[in-house]
Amino acid sequence: MKVLLINGSPHPEGNTFIALKVIAESLEKEGIGSEIVWIGNKPVRGCNACNKCKEEPGRCAFNDDVCNVISAKFEESDALVVGSPVYYGQPNGALLAIIQRAFHSNGPAIAGKPAAAVAICRRGGSTAAFQALNMPFQMMDMPVVTSQYWNIVFGREPGQASLDTEGLQTMRTLAGNLAWMLKVTGGKPAPGRGDDPWEPMHFIR
Ligand SMILES: Cc1cc2nc3c(=O)[nH]c(=O)nc-3n(C[C@H](O)[C@H](O)[C@H](O)COP(=O)(O)O)c2cc1C
Repeated sequence: MKVLLINGSPHPEGNTFIALKVIAESLEKEGIGSEIVWIGNKPVRGCNACNKCKEEPGRCAFNDDVCNVISAKFEESDALVVGSPVYYGQPNGALLAIIQRAFHSNGPAIAGKPAAAVAICRRGGSTAAFQALNMPFQMMDMPVVTSQYWNIVFGREPGQASLDTEGLQTMRTLAGNLAWMLKVTGGKPAPGRGDDPWEPMHFIR
């Protein structure tokens, strides 16, 4: 089994990476493989609601940034962990744009698979960012994996997260719970709605 970890920081090996690396190492001890994918620091487009991805599922129509590269990895992954630095009490905007486009265009490849978010901050806003990162999981039938605390790690300059011993323990516990969930389910995604057709109600009469 394999877990995809998305590093949503412009720093390839900053504090977000440190938190994700601890998760990856703990997963490895449980015999579960992983891949940390960096979103990079090049421009990322926001979703323009063209819905062309509904005509050609699996790909966002914008093919000039990292979004399709990341969502192509959904298929081969059994679970997802998204890590983000906190910017103004929110996740990194580039990461949010990728998540929104990747889920909209390639959602079925990730639906039902266990998911967790991790927020990294200097001092405040981490729980708000954490909540924002968790929102898309609920729309995709993704069982949210928990830890002993909210999945937050503290640090300012790249590297300082290594000093947050409780934060890193929270990452290890999260990895253990994720490994447990994958082993119990055998990596089978949650069934979601199954054959029950969607009943859209847009409150327009
Ligand atoms: C534009 C910007 C906004 C930030 N806003 C916050 C914030 O609201 N709260 C906070 O505690 N830290 C804030 N920070 C600090 C980062 O969250 C912190 O340095 C984090 O460890 C960076 O992670 P990284 O090394 O993975 O990039 C901000 C940093 C930047 C660049």
